[in-house]
Amino acid sequence: MSNRIEIHETAFVTSTYRASEENISKDIYAKLWNNKKTDQWIADYAETVSRHDPFLHCLRNRYFYDKISELAKQNQIEVLINFGSGFSMYPFLLGEDLINIEIDKPDIVQYKKKRIQELQSNGQLPSREIHYIGTDFNKDYEEKLISEINAIKKDKTSFILIEGVLFFLNRDDTKRLFQLFGKIQNSGDYVGSVSYTEAIEEVSAFKKLISFFEEKVVPNERFEYQTISNSFYHNIEGYRLEDHMDCFELAAKYASHKKQMDREEVLDENMYLLKKQ
Ligand SMILES: C[S@@+](CC[C@H](N)C(=O)[O-])C[C@H]1O[C@@H](n2cnc3c(N)ncnc32)[C@H](O)[C@@H]1O
Repeated sequence: MSNRIEIHETAFVTSTYRASEENISKDIYAKLWNNKKTDQWIADYAETVSRHDPFLHCLRNRYFYDKISELAKQNQIEVLINFGSGFSMYPFLLGEDLINIEIDKPDIVQYKKKRIQELQSNGQLPSREIHYIGTDFNKDYEEKLISEINAIKKDKTSFILIEGVLFFLNRDDTKRLFQLFGKIQNSGDYVGSVSYTEAIEEVSAFKKLISFFEEKVVPNERFEYQTISNSFYHNIEGYRLEDHMDCFELAAKYASHKKQMDREEVLDENMYLLKKQ
């Protein structure tokens, strides 16, 4: 393959992954983003890095889908704010009462908004309240973003989701994001986050992933292959860690019928659920 993949194009990859086992991911709309170029990337990646990623992404989606829908049903959250939302389809999978704020790079949100409107007007997607905000987490964005979010959210309860993003950011930009979360949320609100722990650096599939990225992916302005220790999540000011699961635990919960995966071949991501104190 001649063209290199841009970071935002990874959003097509994760949606295609989620479409691979709908019974696990529960994402019946992810397939709307499928395309040939992404299928070629996925085939290449499966051969050179790991063949388990589609399944792992279905587990990841399911974990957050279950958590968010449970909290929404209990009237604990009114607004879902998705940072680095890519082509996530949570707004359509969750109830119509939920207000959705989707934040990603300006090109991605513009493209998504247009495509969603087309899919809604031809009846392929139900109507939902979705606000799209274009931002680059590498830049100086906080003040503007806080006022844009507050204008929509007001003092409603919220769930912030950041999945599939932190790997691409550096530690300073990550800390800035979590500080921003603390500023826009109130006591009782939630954050769902996904990252690799430093243990992954010893795993063969991760070494292959780094080589794949170095060869084939165009980096962000301040790109890092960020891994984050569990202690980071235990020490976020104003938040308490409520839940933490890795992919092996999720596989045992949602797909116990499947054969066990070889740890050296698995890019094991960790899911964290934090509650504002
Ligand atoms: C692997 S995709 C994940 C998308 C979605 N969260 C999911 O799980 O399917 C990574 C997303 O992070 C976004 N992203 C990466 N770096 C970013 C940055 N510096 N500012 C804003 N968005 C960024 C990309 O545009 C892309 O949509």
